[in-house]
Amino acid sequence: MKAHVGRQPCKSVHQTSGADAFGWFLRFVFDAVGCLCGAYRLARLCVARAPLPWGRSDQQSVFAFGPEYNRLVLGDTTTYRTTPQTAGGPPGSALRRIRHGLTAMNGEEHRQQRQLIMPWFTKHAVDHYRDAAVDITQKIIESWPTDRPIDMWQEMRRLTLRTSSHVLFGRDEPALADAMGMMIQQLFERNFEPWCLLFPFDWPGTPFRRLLRHAERIEEMLWQRIYHRRNHPTDQPDILDRLIEAHDAGAMSDTALLGQATILFAASYETQANSMTWMLLLLAQHPKVARDLSDELAVLRGSPPTVDQLDQLPLLDAVVKESMRILPAVPYTIRAVTRPTELGGVPLQVEDRVVCSHYVTHHMPEIYPQPRRFEPERWLTIRPSPFEYLPFSAGQRVCIGRYMAMMLMRISLAMMVQQRCLRLPHRTRIDRSVKVTMGPRKGLPMWVRPRGESWTEAELRGNINEMVEWPACRRTLSVSHGFPLGVRPTESLGRSLTSA
Ligand code: HEM
Repeated sequence: MKAHVGRQPCKSVHQTSGADAFGWFLRFVFDAVGCLCGAYRLARLCVARAPLPWGRSDQQSVFAFGPEYNRLVLGDTTTYRTTPQTAGGPPGSALRRIRHGLTAMNGEEHRQQRQLIMPWFTKHAVDHYRDAAVDITQKIIESWPTDRPIDMWQEMRRLTLRTSSHVLFGRDEPALADAMGMMIQQLFERNFEPWCLLFPFDWPGTPFRRLLRHAERIEEMLWQRIYHRRNHPTDQPDILDRLIEAHDAGAMSDTALLGQATILFAASYETQANSMTWMLLLLAQHPKVARDLSDELAVLRGSPPTVDQLDQLPLLDAVVKESMRILPAVPYTIRAVTRPTELGGVPLQVEDRVVCSHYVTHHMPEIYPQPRRFEPERWLTIRPSPFEYLPFSAGQRVCIGRYMAMMLMRISLAMMVQQRCLRLPHRTRIDRSVKVTMGPRKGLPMWVRPRGESWTEAELRGNINEMVEWPACRRTLSVSHGFPLGVRPTESLGRSLTSA
């Protein structure tokens, strides 16, 4: 299954059913990105009709590609509701309660809860997490050895575990906040174990029973913290304090209080860890961009950026945007149909599923020429619409943590590039793995070297090469074709972006 999007498909609708449709389903489970790209090469709208384990016998799963379908589906929360992608717990279970956060809510409940929570994550509100992000990042960077490769994916998970648990549970001891974060992270990992998905029965010895018990422990731990905090008020509340306050004021049920605390952590952790991992990979493999970024950051004279300085670092911003375009941490979104409707002339029934792909949209050559190339400078000239560029999704359910994520990631990235030089071991294999978010299947080994050493591109193996075209491939092409497709011999990209 190749992850090339290729040219626009000539067909507008492709329909399949029976065994072929079931094949699509299996392909989606094992390699969602490859499956989506394959579907897009066939048509803008691919409809698979197959009796899935949880659906009607004529259940339809629709892949709808491109900005217009993104707008129709993601922009209409009345006709298309959100649906969980992992095993939910049985009614009355702790698992069901602690997953009842924003991502699982719909309709009026979602609108009301979102309005309540959103003010805590505005651009202004998240500025004061900057100092904590700087401290946490600095400690992580200093812990990196320089004499052997380390798994940068695990390091980015370590980093975002700390920052996310600080934001949500920061009033507790750091070790306790981290432990809460870790428990929640393990819950979602267990949720993805194939046996939990395929065999969701509370029987002795089953992985699903272990998942249910794990959820009970999280629920108990959250209640303990909630009681403790009620007895120890503060004038510097973290997000858990704000949730408790909203609950005690009658704006949030017991279930929503637990669910929001759990889901806010889960939504912020893996997404940022994977985004940062891909960013470091892309930077390490594009030495010229890394050098230009290092030049741009020289104005900081070795200090971490302040919040105000972040807005004056255009290349830093472009690197983050371009990397979330080419390798978005969330490659697709699933919606369930709530009332009979039609999409692209195809009739849809209640409970049919529609999949919109951020990855495919970001790789459409008519929106992003040479989409597999990592070219931060493209952000000088393009202004994609919210449905053309959607790493944080779009419409009424757009990510509420986007300002926070952008701030934290830019700060951490700036500090890493200022202090270290990163390189991949030669011929490293990197394959994608999608469990709601997309990350490297077996981690990302990297050499961390002192600043001043040269950034050098390595030859890579694995299906990462389908998603990204590396400068070395372009140089090979340029030599064989006799014209320059490779790195541009222009002035420093950092300078050209800054002067724009
Ligand atoms: C790089 C980091 C992040 C990425 C790529 C990301 C991506 C996304 C995407 C694509 C969605 C929409 C999902 C859908 O349509 O079904 C979403 C929703 C959400 N995100 Fe993020 N996110 C990030 C960071 C964060 C952070 C830091 C938080 C909170 C602290 C957060 C909280 C949420 C919540 C609560 C929702 C659900 C919104 C709703 O349904 O109304 N995210 N995120």
